[in-house]
Amino acid sequence: MTIARAACISDLRTIAKRRIPRFAFDLVDGGAEDESNLRRNEDALQALRLTPRYLVDASRPRLETEIFGQTYSAPFGIAPIGMLNVFWPGADLMLARLAAKHNVPYCVSAAASTSLERLAEAADGRGWFQLYASADHAVTDGLLDRAQAAGYRNLLVTVDVPAAGKRDRDIRNELSVPFKFTPRTLVDLGLHPRWSLATLRHGKPNIANYADLLKSATSYAEVQATLIAADYTWDHLIKLRDRWPGRLIVKGLQHAEDAARCAELGCDGIVVSNHGGRQVAAGPGSIEALPAIAKAVADRIKILFDSGIRRGSDIIRAKALGADFTLLGRSFAYGVGAGGATGADRAFTIIELELTRSLGQLGRPDFANVDETLIHRGTP
Ligand code: FNR
Repeated sequence: MTIARAACISDLRTIAKRRIPRFAFDLVDGGAEDESNLRRNEDALQALRLTPRYLVDASRPRLETEIFGQTYSAPFGIAPIGMLNVFWPGADLMLARLAAKHNVPYCVSAAASTSLERLAEAADGRGWFQLYASADHAVTDGLLDRAQAAGYRNLLVTVDVPAAGKRDRDIRNELSVPFKFTPRTLVDLGLHPRWSLATLRHGKPNIANYADLLKSATSYAEVQATLIAADYTWDHLIKLRDRWPGRLIVKGLQHAEDAARCAELGCDGIVVSNHGGRQVAAGPGSIEALPAIAKAVADRIKILFDSGIRRGSDIIRAKALGADFTLLGRSFAYGVGAGGATGADRAFTIIELELTRSLGQLGRPDFANVDETLIHRGTP
């Protein structure tokens, strides 16, 4: 299989799996515990059927979507992914440039492998900044000041990591901080010379925004505490709302009451997300959480959705259930892992093509007209 012959995101995943050492592939591909939530995300999306409607002029598809005061060329963007350069060297910058080229948002993870300033520049006005509140408030303040100075206007604050996800694959792969070479990883590196050489050339991936702070970290727990506060509560969110002058979007909600509270606190949006099945194995498929949340807040704030999107039709499913906009994490990661910037571009065009074709098939060429009447609920 080559990039040019990759027909779908799953094909890109297959290519990426071949090119990337196992520990690095699993780090991105894996989910929490037995990965039931990861699977449920995709299964629940697929279980949702859409009814085609015909004899509608489908000759002029339209994907353009406005959100947070800016018009994008498609109703989806790139979700924040920390440490992605472990997956493929230079991945962050490739995705930022991809977003600029196609005019879609690129969410810059606080834990990215590249500095938020460089990524803002590469995304060329399409960058949204994603914050993890640090246990050290001075660290959080510093990041917010930098994000503001770099020109970010939209801030996503991710709240679904009060404790680190337990990922069985990473444990089996003996991933540790600082990174240690085990006999198995050495064999793994030898079997993937292209990745190993590219990584050598590029330098060891780190978490760029915190590089100085993490230099002396000797355990995962230390890194986690620097990156993410375990005691982050609604009171902190209220203060953040006061402090951040731009749009504030809370990422990682699965319950309608939490979403309603965000609306009451003056947030501009929420992301219905379960972190791509990486946190709570017992949780619902993210799409299963969407209808109740949409019912609670749709008229008050913007609703974004992620977790499990692998097809253009998944974006339509999410919109039909009330999402204004969607984010894709692994779909773009697989693209960049399969073939760098070319692979990332392939991921984009696959999703865009599937989305456009599906809209035509469903009799809703203009994405803005997708609504709940497309959902198949049995014969009326
Ligand atoms: C993530 N995600 C994530 N989210 C976030 O807010 N900050 C982050 O740094 C990261 N890091 C991260 C790393 C990796 C390897 C993955 C796969 C995911 C979650 C991400 O933004 C998004 O919610 C999910 O990826 C969406 O699910 P899909 O599209 O991957 O199924």
